[in-house]
Amino acid sequence: MTHEFSHLRTGGVAGGIVSDAAAQPATIEADAIVTFLTAGGIGSGAVAEIDTATGGLLSRLASAGEITGKRYECVPILAPPGIRAGQIVVVGLGKREEIDAGVLYRAAATVSRQLAGRPRAKVVFVADGSWTSRQTEQAVAGAAVGMVGQDLYRAEKKRTPFGSSIWLVASPEDVARGIVIAEGVNLARRLVNTPPDDLYPQTFSEEAAAVAGRTGMEVEIWDEGQLARERCQAILAVGRGSIRHPRLVILHYQGPGAREGHPDLAFVGKGVTFDSGGLSLKPSDSMLTMKCDMSGAAAVLAAAATIAALKLPINLVVAIGLVENMTGPAAYKLGDVITARSGTTIEIHNTDAEGRVVLADVLDVVRGFKPKRIIDAATLTGACMVALGHDVAGLFSNDQECCDDVARAARAVGEPVWQLPMFADYDEQISSDVADIKNVGDGRWGGAITAAKFLERFVGGIPWTHVDIAGPAFAEKPRPWIDGGGTGAFVRPLVELVRGPE
Ligand code: BES
Ligand code: MN
Ligand code: ZN
Repeated sequence: MTHEFSHLRTGGVAGGIVSDAAAQPATIEADAIVTFLTAGGIGSGAVAEIDTATGGLLSRLASAGEITGKRYECVPILAPPGIRAGQIVVVGLGKREEIDAGVLYRAAATVSRQLAGRPRAKVVFVADGSWTSRQTEQAVAGAAVGMVGQDLYRAEKKRTPFGSSIWLVASPEDVARGIVIAEGVNLARRLVNTPPDDLYPQTFSEEAAAVAGRTGMEVEIWDEGQLARERCQAILAVGRGSIRHPRLVILHYQGPGAREGHPDLAFVGKGVTFDSGGLSLKPSDSMLTMKCDMSGAAAVLAAAATIAALKLPINLVVAIGLVENMTGPAAYKLGDVITARSGTTIEIHNTDAEGRVVLADVLDVVRGFKPKRIIDAATLTGACMVALGHDVAGLFSNDQECCDDVARAARAVGEPVWQLPMFADYDEQISSDVADIKNVGDGRWGGAITAAKFLERFVGGIPWTHVDIAGPAFAEKPRPWIDGGGTGAFVRPLVELVRGPE
Protein backbone atom coordinates (compact mmCIF):
# COMPACT_ATOMS: atom_id res chain seq x y z
CA MET A 1 0.00 0.00 0.00
CA THR A 2 1.26 3.47 -0.75
CA HIS A 3 0.47 6.65 1.14
CA GLU A 4 0.03 9.79 -0.94
CA PHE A 5 0.56 13.15 0.67
CA SER A 6 -1.13 16.29 -0.40
CA HIS A 7 1.40 18.97 -0.92
CA LEU A 8 2.13 21.23 1.88
CA ARG A 9 0.99 24.28 0.02
CA THR A 10 4.06 26.26 1.08
CA GLY A 11 5.39 26.35 -2.41
CA GLY A 12 5.57 23.03 -4.04
CA VAL A 13 7.78 20.01 -4.51
CA ALA A 14 6.88 18.89 -7.99
CA GLY A 15 5.84 15.32 -8.52
CA GLY A 16 4.43 12.97 -5.94
CA ILE A 17 6.47 11.70 -3.02
CA VAL A 18 5.06 8.66 -1.28
CA SER A 19 6.05 6.04 1.23
CA ASP A 20 5.55 2.38 0.43
CA ALA A 21 6.24 0.12 3.37
CA ALA A 22 5.40 -3.14 1.62
CA ALA A 23 7.34 -2.89 -1.66
CA GLN A 24 10.57 -4.82 -2.03
CA PRO A 25 13.70 -3.25 -3.53
CA ALA A 26 14.31 -6.38 -5.60
CA THR A 27 10.90 -6.40 -7.29
CA ILE A 28 9.83 -2.74 -7.51
CA GLU A 29 9.93 -1.16 -10.96
CA ALA A 30 11.74 2.17 -11.23
CA ASP A 31 14.02 4.31 -13.37
CA ALA A 32 16.47 4.29 -10.50
CA ILE A 33 16.73 2.79 -7.07
CA VAL A 34 18.80 4.66 -4.52
CA THR A 35 20.44 2.80 -1.71
CA PHE A 36 22.56 4.20 1.12
CA LEU A 37 25.82 2.54 2.12
CA THR A 38 27.96 3.08 5.21
CA ALA A 39 31.74 2.91 4.98
CA GLY A 40 31.68 -0.30 7.05
CA GLY A 41 30.44 -2.44 4.15
CA ILE A 42 27.25 -3.97 2.89
CA GLY A 43 25.95 -5.38 6.19
CA SER A 44 22.49 -6.84 6.48
CA GLY A 45 20.00 -4.11 5.52
CA ALA A 46 18.46 -3.03 2.23
CA VAL A 47 21.84 -2.88 0.48
CA ALA A 48 22.35 -6.55 1.30
CA GLU A 49 18.94 -7.38 -0.14
CA ILE A 50 19.80 -5.66 -3.41
CA ASP A 51 23.18 -7.34 -3.37
CA THR A 52 21.53 -10.76 -3.12
CA ALA A 53 18.96 -9.93 -5.81
CA THR A 54 21.73 -8.88 -8.19
CA GLY A 55 23.72 -12.05 -7.55
CA GLY A 56 26.35 -10.36 -5.38
CA LEU A 57 27.08 -7.49 -7.77
CA LEU A 58 27.41 -4.90 -5.04
CA SER A 59 29.80 -7.04 -2.98
CA ARG A 60 31.98 -7.59 -6.03
CA LEU A 61 32.07 -3.85 -6.74
CA ALA A 62 32.82 -3.15 -3.09
CA SER A 63 35.73 -5.60 -2.98
CA ALA A 64 37.04 -4.12 -6.21
CA GLY A 65 37.02 -0.73 -4.46
CA GLU A 66 34.48 0.75 -6.88
CA ILE A 67 31.99 1.39 -4.10
CA THR A 68 33.45 2.57 -0.81
CA GLY A 69 30.58 4.08 1.17
CA LYS A 70 32.66 7.25 1.48
CA ARG A 71 30.49 10.23 2.41
CA TYR A 72 28.39 11.54 -0.51
CA GLU A 73 30.01 9.23 -3.08
CA CYS A 74 27.34 8.33 -5.65
CA VAL A 75 27.99 5.30 -7.83
CA PRO A 76 25.43 4.57 -10.55
CA ILE A 77 25.23 0.96 -11.67
CA LEU A 78 23.41 0.84 -14.99
CA ALA A 79 21.19 -2.02 -16.18
CA PRO A 80 21.75 -4.19 -13.10
CA PRO A 81 20.73 -7.85 -13.35
CA GLY A 82 18.10 -9.47 -11.15
CA ILE A 83 16.06 -6.38 -10.29
CA ARG A 84 13.50 -4.28 -12.12
CA ALA A 85 15.14 -0.87 -11.84
CA GLY A 86 17.00 0.77 -14.71
CA GLN A 87 19.87 1.58 -12.40
CA ILE A 88 21.02 1.34 -8.83
CA VAL A 89 22.71 4.34 -7.27
CA VAL A 90 24.77 3.57 -4.21
CA VAL A 91 25.23 6.63 -2.01
CA GLY A 92 27.99 6.74 0.59
CA LEU A 93 27.20 7.89 4.13
CA GLY A 94 30.67 7.63 5.66
CA LYS A 95 31.40 5.98 9.01
CA ARG A 96 28.34 4.57 10.75
CA GLU A 97 29.05 6.36 14.03
CA GLU A 98 29.24 9.72 12.26
CA ILE A 99 25.91 9.43 10.46
CA ASP A 100 23.36 11.96 11.64
CA ALA A 101 20.35 13.79 10.26
CA GLY A 102 22.56 16.39 8.57
CA VAL A 103 24.64 13.76 6.76
CA LEU A 104 21.49 12.02 5.55
CA TYR A 105 20.00 15.30 4.33
CA ARG A 106 23.10 16.06 2.26
CA ALA A 107 23.61 12.50 1.02
CA ALA A 108 20.03 12.26 -0.21
CA ALA A 109 20.22 15.74 -1.72
CA THR A 110 23.46 14.85 -3.53
CA VAL A 111 22.07 11.77 -5.22
CA SER A 112 18.81 13.48 -6.00
CA ARG A 113 20.58 16.44 -7.56
CA GLN A 114 22.54 14.08 -9.81
CA LEU A 115 19.55 12.03 -10.87
CA ALA A 116 17.50 15.17 -11.54
CA GLY A 117 20.04 16.14 -14.20
CA ARG A 118 17.63 14.52 -16.65
CA PRO A 119 13.95 13.64 -16.47
CA ARG A 120 13.09 10.51 -14.46
CA ALA A 121 9.56 9.22 -14.11
CA LYS A 122 10.04 7.19 -10.95
CA VAL A 123 12.85 7.07 -8.41
CA VAL A 124 12.84 4.69 -5.45
CA PHE A 125 14.78 5.52 -2.29
CA VAL A 126 15.49 2.81 0.22
CA ALA A 127 15.72 4.16 3.76
CA ASP A 128 17.31 2.11 6.52
CA GLY A 129 15.41 0.60 9.41
CA SER A 130 18.14 1.73 11.80
CA TRP A 131 17.55 5.43 11.11
CA THR A 132 15.64 7.47 13.65
CA SER A 133 12.45 9.18 12.65
CA ARG A 134 14.22 12.53 12.45
CA GLN A 135 16.98 11.03 10.29
CA THR A 136 14.51 9.50 7.83
CA GLU A 137 12.58 12.75 7.63
CA GLN A 138 15.75 14.73 6.90
CA ALA A 139 16.79 12.25 4.19
CA VAL A 140 13.37 12.67 2.55
CA ALA A 141 13.73 16.44 2.83
CA GLY A 142 17.21 16.38 1.30
CA ALA A 143 16.04 14.29 -1.64
CA ALA A 144 13.22 16.75 -2.36
CA VAL A 145 15.53 19.77 -2.11
CA GLY A 146 18.26 18.26 -4.29
CA MET A 147 15.99 17.66 -7.27
CA VAL A 148 15.06 21.35 -7.52
CA GLY A 149 17.55 23.65 -9.22
CA GLN A 150 17.85 27.38 -9.84
CA ASP A 151 15.97 27.13 -13.12
CA LEU A 152 13.26 29.72 -12.53
CA TYR A 153 14.25 31.83 -15.51
CA ARG A 154 15.69 29.22 -17.86
CA ALA A 155 13.89 27.63 -20.79
CA GLU A 156 16.11 24.59 -20.69
CA LYS A 157 15.99 23.27 -17.14
CA LYS A 158 19.10 21.81 -15.56
CA ARG A 159 17.07 19.85 -12.98
CA THR A 160 13.79 18.05 -13.50
CA PRO A 161 11.96 16.95 -10.36
CA PHE A 162 11.11 13.25 -10.53
CA GLY A 163 7.66 12.28 -11.72
CA SER A 164 7.35 10.34 -8.50
CA SER A 165 9.57 9.41 -5.57
CA ILE A 166 8.85 6.27 -3.56
CA TRP A 167 10.38 5.79 -0.13
CA LEU A 168 10.77 2.22 1.09
CA VAL A 169 11.38 1.36 4.76
CA ALA A 170 10.16 4.82 5.78
CA SER A 171 7.01 5.52 7.75
CA PRO A 172 4.32 7.64 6.07
CA GLU A 173 4.64 10.18 8.90
CA ASP A 174 8.38 10.59 8.44
CA VAL A 175 7.94 10.99 4.69
CA ALA A 176 5.12 13.50 5.16
CA ARG A 177 7.23 15.64 7.50
CA GLY A 178 10.21 15.41 5.16
CA ILE A 179 8.11 16.75 2.29
CA VAL A 180 6.80 19.64 4.35
CA ILE A 181 10.31 20.61 5.45
CA ALA A 182 11.63 20.40 1.89
CA GLU A 183 8.82 22.64 0.69
CA GLY A 184 9.87 25.17 3.30
CA VAL A 185 13.51 25.04 2.19
CA ASN A 186 12.53 25.25 -1.48
CA LEU A 187 10.22 28.19 -0.78
CA ALA A 188 13.11 30.11 0.80
CA ARG A 189 15.36 29.18 -2.13
CA ARG A 190 12.82 30.33 -4.67
CA LEU A 191 12.39 33.68 -2.94
CA VAL A 192 16.15 34.21 -2.74
CA ASN A 193 16.65 33.17 -6.36
CA THR A 194 13.96 35.49 -7.70
CA PRO A 195 15.66 38.55 -9.24
CA PRO A 196 15.31 41.87 -7.43
CA ASP A 197 13.23 43.52 -10.13
CA ASP A 198 10.60 40.82 -9.60
CA LEU A 199 10.93 40.40 -5.85
CA TYR A 200 10.84 43.76 -4.07
CA PRO A 201 9.19 44.80 -0.83
CA GLN A 202 5.65 44.84 -2.17
CA THR A 203 5.86 41.57 -4.09
CA PHE A 204 7.63 39.87 -1.18
CA SER A 205 4.81 41.00 1.10
CA GLU A 206 2.28 39.55 -1.37
CA GLU A 207 4.17 36.24 -1.35
CA ALA A 208 4.08 36.31 2.45
CA ALA A 209 0.33 36.94 2.41
CA ALA A 210 -0.20 34.04 0.01
CA VAL A 211 1.91 31.72 2.15
CA ALA A 212 0.03 32.83 5.26
CA GLY A 213 -3.27 32.13 3.53
CA ARG A 214 -2.19 28.63 2.52
CA THR A 215 -0.87 27.69 5.96
CA GLY A 216 -3.43 29.36 8.19
CA MET A 217 -1.41 32.22 9.63
CA GLU A 218 -2.72 35.71 10.25
CA VAL A 219 -0.93 38.38 8.26
CA GLU A 220 -0.63 42.13 8.60
CA ILE A 221 1.22 44.30 6.05
CA TRP A 222 2.32 47.83 6.87
CA ASP A 223 2.82 50.09 3.84
CA GLU A 224 4.68 53.44 3.85
CA GLY A 225 1.73 55.23 5.36
CA GLN A 226 1.37 52.76 8.18
CA LEU A 227 5.15 52.68 8.74
CA ALA A 228 5.08 56.47 9.12
CA ARG A 229 2.17 56.32 11.57
CA GLU A 230 4.09 53.69 13.50
CA ARG A 231 7.19 55.94 13.62
CA CYS A 232 9.34 53.39 11.75
CA GLN A 233 11.70 56.13 10.58
CA ALA A 234 14.67 53.79 10.38
CA ILE A 235 12.96 51.47 7.89
CA LEU A 236 11.66 54.46 5.94
CA ALA A 237 15.09 56.11 5.84
CA VAL A 238 16.77 53.08 4.28
CA GLY A 239 13.91 52.74 1.78
CA ARG A 240 13.95 56.37 0.66
CA GLY A 241 16.50 55.86 -2.11
CA SER A 242 14.25 53.46 -4.01
CA ILE A 243 11.03 53.77 -5.95
CA ARG A 244 10.06 50.43 -4.42
CA HIS A 245 8.56 51.43 -1.10
CA PRO A 246 9.26 49.54 2.11
CA ARG A 247 6.91 47.13 3.82
CA LEU A 248 6.73 45.46 7.18
CA VAL A 249 5.09 42.03 7.32
CA ILE A 250 3.79 40.64 10.59
CA LEU A 251 2.60 37.04 10.81
CA HIS A 252 0.86 35.43 13.75
CA TYR A 253 0.62 31.70 14.21
CA GLN A 254 -1.28 30.14 17.08
CA GLY A 255 -0.62 26.40 17.11
CA PRO A 256 -3.07 23.84 18.50
CA GLY A 257 -2.87 23.82 22.29
CA ALA A 258 -0.44 26.74 22.39
CA ARG A 259 -0.80 29.32 25.13
CA GLU A 260 -2.72 32.45 24.24
CA GLY A 261 -1.36 35.84 25.15
CA HIS A 262 2.27 36.76 24.70
CA PRO A 263 4.05 34.75 21.99
CA ASP A 264 6.43 31.99 23.04
CA LEU A 265 8.79 33.03 20.30
CA ALA A 266 9.37 35.78 17.75
CA PHE A 267 11.20 35.45 14.44
CA VAL A 268 12.64 38.55 12.82
CA GLY A 269 14.01 38.64 9.27
CA LYS A 270 16.17 41.07 7.31
CA GLY A 271 14.44 41.58 3.99
CA VAL A 272 16.64 43.87 1.94
CA THR A 273 15.38 42.79 -1.46
CA PHE A 274 18.40 44.40 -3.10
CA ASP A 275 21.41 45.97 -1.40
CA SER A 276 23.28 48.34 -3.71
CA GLY A 277 24.98 49.78 -0.62
CA GLY A 278 23.13 53.06 -1.13
CA LEU A 279 25.33 56.15 -1.40
CA SER A 280 28.14 54.09 0.17
CA LEU A 281 27.83 52.18 -3.09
CA LYS A 282 29.12 48.64 -3.29
CA PRO A 283 31.63 47.76 -5.99
CA SER A 284 30.01 45.88 -8.84
CA ASP A 285 31.44 42.49 -7.89
CA SER A 286 30.05 42.66 -4.36
CA MET A 287 26.70 43.94 -5.59
CA LEU A 288 26.10 41.12 -8.06
CA THR A 289 24.62 38.68 -5.54
CA MET A 290 22.78 41.22 -3.41
CA LYS A 291 19.38 39.88 -4.33
CA CYS A 292 20.28 37.43 -1.56
CA ASP A 293 20.03 40.14 1.09
CA MET A 294 16.47 39.08 1.92
CA SER A 295 17.55 35.55 2.84
CA GLY A 296 16.83 36.12 6.53
CA ALA A 297 13.31 37.22 5.65
CA ALA A 298 12.89 34.19 3.38
CA ALA A 299 14.18 31.86 6.12
CA VAL A 300 11.81 33.10 8.82
CA LEU A 301 8.81 33.17 6.46
CA ALA A 302 9.53 29.66 5.20
CA ALA A 303 10.22 28.33 8.70
CA ALA A 304 6.97 29.82 10.00
CA ALA A 305 5.06 28.31 7.06
CA THR A 306 6.63 24.92 7.81
CA ILE A 307 5.87 25.21 11.53
CA ALA A 308 2.27 26.06 10.70
CA ALA A 309 1.98 23.21 8.20
CA LEU A 310 3.36 20.79 10.80
CA LYS A 311 0.81 22.24 13.26
CA LEU A 312 3.45 22.61 15.96
CA PRO A 313 2.01 23.74 19.30
CA ILE A 314 3.48 27.21 19.66
CA ASN A 315 2.37 30.80 19.73
CA LEU A 316 4.70 32.46 17.21
CA VAL A 317 4.99 35.97 15.86
CA VAL A 318 7.12 36.81 12.81
CA ALA A 319 8.17 40.27 11.66
CA ILE A 320 9.93 40.96 8.39
CA GLY A 321 11.41 44.32 7.38
CA LEU A 322 11.38 44.79 3.61
CA VAL A 323 13.33 47.53 1.83
CA GLU A 324 15.39 48.08 -1.28
CA ASN A 325 18.66 49.92 -0.50
CA MET A 326 19.23 52.27 -3.43
CA THR A 327 20.81 55.59 -4.34
CA GLY A 328 17.79 57.59 -5.57
CA PRO A 329 17.60 61.35 -5.06
CA ALA A 330 15.92 61.01 -1.67
CA ALA A 331 18.37 58.38 -0.41
CA TYR A 332 19.46 58.57 3.21
CA LYS A 333 22.88 60.13 3.60
CA LEU A 334 26.06 59.81 5.58
CA GLY A 335 25.81 62.05 8.60
CA ASP A 336 22.02 61.78 8.77
CA VAL A 337 20.61 61.19 12.21
CA ILE A 338 17.51 59.01 12.28
CA THR A 339 15.18 58.59 15.22
CA ALA A 340 14.27 54.92 15.31
CA ARG A 341 10.86 53.75 16.51
CA SER A 342 12.28 53.07 19.98
CA GLY A 343 13.39 56.71 20.26
CA THR A 344 17.08 55.81 19.95
CA THR A 345 18.89 58.12 17.53
CA ILE A 346 21.19 56.60 14.93
CA GLU A 347 23.97 58.49 13.14
CA ILE A 348 24.59 57.07 9.68
CA HIS A 349 28.27 56.53 8.91
CA ASN A 350 27.77 54.11 6.06
CA THR A 351 24.56 53.54 4.11
CA ASP A 352 25.73 50.00 3.30
CA ALA A 353 25.26 49.08 6.97
CA GLU A 354 21.53 49.23 6.27
CA GLY A 355 20.38 45.87 7.60
CA ARG A 356 20.90 46.81 11.23
CA VAL A 357 19.07 50.12 10.69
CA VAL A 358 16.05 48.29 9.27
CA LEU A 359 16.14 45.67 12.01
CA ALA A 360 16.24 48.39 14.69
CA ASP A 361 12.60 49.15 13.94
CA VAL A 362 11.55 45.57 13.26
CA LEU A 363 12.96 44.44 16.60
CA ASP A 364 11.18 47.30 18.32
CA VAL A 365 7.86 46.29 16.77
CA VAL A 366 8.37 42.70 17.89
CA ARG A 367 9.35 43.80 21.37
CA GLY A 368 5.88 45.33 21.67
CA PHE A 369 4.36 41.83 21.48
CA LYS A 370 6.39 40.84 24.58
CA PRO A 371 7.58 37.48 23.23
CA LYS A 372 9.54 35.21 25.57
CA ARG A 373 12.37 34.97 23.05
CA ILE A 374 13.46 36.64 19.82
CA ILE A 375 15.50 35.00 17.05
CA ASP A 376 16.55 37.10 14.09
CA ALA A 377 18.06 35.85 10.85
CA ALA A 378 19.96 38.27 8.63
CA THR A 379 22.59 38.40 5.91
CA LEU A 380 24.04 41.15 8.05
CA THR A 381 27.79 41.40 7.51
CA GLY A 382 30.58 40.46 5.15
CA ALA A 383 32.69 40.47 8.32
CA CYS A 384 30.88 37.33 9.50
CA MET A 385 32.07 35.58 6.35
CA VAL A 386 35.61 36.82 6.98
CA ALA A 387 35.40 35.28 10.45
CA LEU A 388 33.61 32.00 9.72
CA GLY A 389 33.74 31.36 5.97
CA HIS A 390 30.95 30.48 3.58
CA ASP A 391 29.28 27.61 5.35
CA VAL A 392 29.01 28.64 8.97
CA ALA A 393 26.41 31.00 10.44
CA GLY A 394 27.42 33.32 13.28
CA LEU A 395 25.45 33.34 16.54
CA PHE A 396 25.28 36.38 18.81
CA SER A 397 23.16 36.53 21.92
CA ASN A 398 22.28 38.28 25.16
CA ASP A 399 21.15 34.98 26.69
CA GLN A 400 23.28 31.86 26.75
CA GLU A 401 20.41 29.42 27.14
CA CYS A 402 18.59 30.88 24.15
CA CYS A 403 21.79 30.75 22.10
CA ASP A 404 22.51 27.15 23.15
CA ASP A 405 19.04 26.10 22.02
CA VAL A 406 19.56 27.67 18.60
CA ALA A 407 22.98 26.03 18.28
CA ARG A 408 21.60 22.62 19.26
CA ALA A 409 18.80 22.89 16.72
CA ALA A 410 21.16 23.91 13.93
CA ARG A 411 23.59 21.10 14.68
CA ALA A 412 20.78 18.56 14.92
CA VAL A 413 19.94 19.17 11.26
CA GLY A 414 23.51 19.56 10.09
CA GLU A 415 23.79 23.32 9.66
CA PRO A 416 27.05 24.52 11.23
CA VAL A 417 26.99 27.56 13.55
CA TRP A 418 29.51 29.24 15.79
CA GLN A 419 28.94 31.71 18.59
CA LEU A 420 30.92 34.95 18.71
CA PRO A 421 31.40 37.01 21.88
CA MET A 422 29.28 39.99 22.89
CA PHE A 423 31.66 41.59 25.43
CA ALA A 424 30.49 44.95 26.76
CA ASP A 425 33.72 46.55 25.49
CA TYR A 426 32.44 46.37 21.92
CA ASP A 427 29.66 48.80 22.82
CA GLU A 428 32.12 51.70 22.83
CA GLN A 429 32.73 51.12 19.15
CA ILE A 430 29.20 52.08 18.20
CA SER A 431 29.00 55.23 20.33
CA SER A 432 28.44 58.39 18.28
CA ASP A 433 29.54 61.99 18.82
CA VAL A 434 26.16 63.38 17.84
CA ALA A 435 23.56 60.62 18.35
CA ASP A 436 22.88 57.73 20.74
CA ILE A 437 24.68 55.30 18.45
CA LYS A 438 26.24 55.11 14.99
CA ASN A 439 25.58 52.39 12.46
CA VAL A 440 29.14 51.05 12.11
CA GLY A 441 32.00 50.17 14.47
CA ASP A 442 35.46 51.75 14.46
CA GLY A 443 37.02 50.36 11.32
CA ARG A 444 36.32 46.88 10.00
CA TRP A 445 37.55 44.88 12.96
CA GLY A 446 34.98 42.75 14.72
CA GLY A 447 32.40 43.98 12.22
CA ALA A 448 30.00 41.07 12.70
CA ILE A 449 30.02 41.67 16.46
CA THR A 450 29.58 45.44 16.36
CA ALA A 451 26.60 44.87 14.06
CA ALA A 452 25.12 42.44 16.59
CA LYS A 453 25.86 44.91 19.39
CA PHE A 454 23.85 47.50 17.47
CA LEU A 455 20.87 45.13 17.24
CA GLU A 456 21.11 44.35 20.96
CA ARG A 457 20.13 47.96 21.70
CA PHE A 458 16.68 47.29 20.27
CA VAL A 459 15.63 44.03 21.94
CA GLY A 460 14.94 45.59 25.33
CA GLY A 461 16.52 42.84 27.38
CA ILE A 462 14.30 40.06 25.97
CA PRO A 463 16.32 36.83 25.52
CA TRP A 464 17.47 37.09 21.92
CA THR A 465 19.79 35.38 19.46
CA HIS A 466 20.95 36.94 16.21
CA VAL A 467 21.95 34.59 13.41
CA ASP A 468 24.20 36.11 10.74
CA ILE A 469 23.64 33.95 7.65
CA ALA A 470 25.63 36.12 5.20
CA GLY A 471 27.84 33.10 4.39
CA PRO A 472 25.51 30.09 4.21
CA ALA A 473 22.44 31.77 2.68
CA PHE A 474 23.77 31.92 -0.83
CA ALA A 475 26.09 29.56 -2.71
CA GLU A 476 27.98 31.37 -5.45
CA LYS A 477 29.06 28.00 -6.77
CA PRO A 478 27.10 24.75 -6.69
CA ARG A 479 27.89 22.22 -3.97
CA PRO A 480 27.46 18.47 -4.43
CA TRP A 481 24.10 18.60 -2.60
CA ILE A 482 22.68 21.83 -3.93
CA ASP A 483 22.74 24.00 -7.02
CA GLY A 484 24.18 27.48 -6.74
CA GLY A 485 22.02 30.33 -5.48
CA GLY A 486 19.78 30.40 -2.43
CA THR A 487 20.35 27.46 -0.10
CA GLY A 488 17.38 27.77 2.25
CA ALA A 489 19.84 28.17 5.11
CA PHE A 490 18.33 28.26 8.59
CA VAL A 491 14.86 27.12 7.64
CA ARG A 492 15.46 23.65 9.08
CA PRO A 493 17.17 24.91 12.27
CA LEU A 494 14.27 27.25 13.06
CA VAL A 495 11.77 24.42 12.61
CA GLU A 496 13.95 22.15 14.72
CA LEU A 497 14.21 24.82 17.43
CA VAL A 498 10.45 25.00 17.79
CA ARG A 499 10.12 21.24 17.78
CA GLY A 500 12.79 20.49 20.39
CA PRO A 501 14.97 17.35 20.60
CA GLU A 502 13.65 14.07 19.18
N1 BES B 1 24.20 42.75 2.95
C1 BES B 1 25.49 43.11 3.39
C2 BES B 1 26.25 41.94 4.02
C3 BES B 1 26.57 40.79 3.11
C4 BES B 1 27.80 40.74 2.46
C5 BES B 1 25.69 39.76 2.92
C6 BES B 1 28.10 39.68 1.64
C7 BES B 1 25.98 38.68 2.10
C8 BES B 1 27.20 38.64 1.45
C9 BES B 1 25.37 44.22 4.43
O1 BES B 1 24.31 45.06 4.29
C10 BES B 1 26.61 45.03 4.31
O2 BES B 1 26.81 45.60 3.29
N2 BES B 1 27.41 45.08 5.35
C11 BES B 1 28.64 45.81 5.35
C12 BES B 1 28.72 46.58 6.64
C13 BES B 1 29.81 47.59 6.68
C14 BES B 1 29.50 48.72 5.71
C15 BES B 1 29.94 48.12 8.07
C16 BES B 1 29.78 44.82 5.22
O3 BES B 1 29.70 43.77 5.85
O4 BES B 1 30.70 45.09 4.50
MN1 MN C 1 24.68 46.65 2.95
ZN1 ZN D 1 22.66 44.33 3.37
